[in-house]
Amino acid sequence: MAPMPQLAVDFHPLAPIPIWRDNPHRPLSARIVGISAMVADHHLFSLRLLDDAAARALRHFPGQYLMLSVPGDSETPVSIASSPTRPEALELCVSREGRMAAALYRQWVGDLVGVRGPFGNGFPIKVLEGQDLLLVAEGLGMAPLRSLLGYALDRRERFGAITLMVGARTPAEMLFGDELAALAGRDDLACRLTVDRDPTGTWRHSVGNLPGLFDRATIDPARTFAAVCGPPAAYRAVLERLLALGFSRDRILVSLDRRMSCGIGRCGRCSIGCKYTCLHGPIFSARDTLDLPEMV
Ligand code: FES
Repeated sequence: MAPMPQLAVDFHPLAPIPIWRDNPHRPLSARIVGISAMVADHHLFSLRLLDDAAARALRHFPGQYLMLSVPGDSETPVSIASSPTRPEALELCVSREGRMAAALYRQWVGDLVGVRGPFGNGFPIKVLEGQDLLLVAEGLGMAPLRSLLGYALDRRERFGAITLMVGARTPAEMLFGDELAALAGRDDLACRLTVDRDPTGTWRHSVGNLPGLFDRATIDPARTFAAVCGPPAAYRAVLERLLALGFSRDRILVSLDRRMSCGIGRCGRCSIGCKYTCLHGPIFSARDTLDLPEMV
């Protein structure tokens, strides 16, 4: 295998603590303690590990993911949507699509599921602290960004200006829409929400595409890290705007989803070029993604 290119951003200033003790392939049992319907065909599952010691030991970085399974069925990678500052429960936003999801959606509060992880690099929190943040999300991309946003708001004094930009097709399709709308009133956060169209006529925020939010934003690219999560079409347009604003490629971080299976760099299913998404991602700098165009 070709040698790994070095990342300009140090993604591992702290070692995350995985919850396995001896076997990374063996899931730990977690109880479903809450299920909330989000947008159509997306539910938020709140989990608590059965093993108290493992629950206390669990740490994750925003942007990391868990392998989630229903006993006797397949497993799937899911971004952790809750902040590590709120350790009471792990929150995972899961789409109804796929075999594992079909099994998961048959579970009730109180049932048990399996989790492995946390896996991946996550956002480089210690690099981001002291900097301005620009968080840009579309669609399911709000799940990993919600973890980072929650961390930054719970540790507000550690960050400079924070700008949040979120896009969706309609108000009903905005993931965590009520939560985000409530944030729009905060004076320590510039919260910009937009939808492509508003069939109800009751939307109080912007109407238009996500990159259009940059037209009215005041951002200093020299002291800001941008974190971008969403579908590839959104990535491309947002990356173009960020580069046009003068952002260095090292200051743009994107979260990429790929088919992940083992989560520990052994099966090779998640490889893109010389990188394994499960180990070297899912958070990459734009320098990496633009050098490997097939990643975006
Ligand atoms: S998921 Fe197996 S190598 Fe990445």
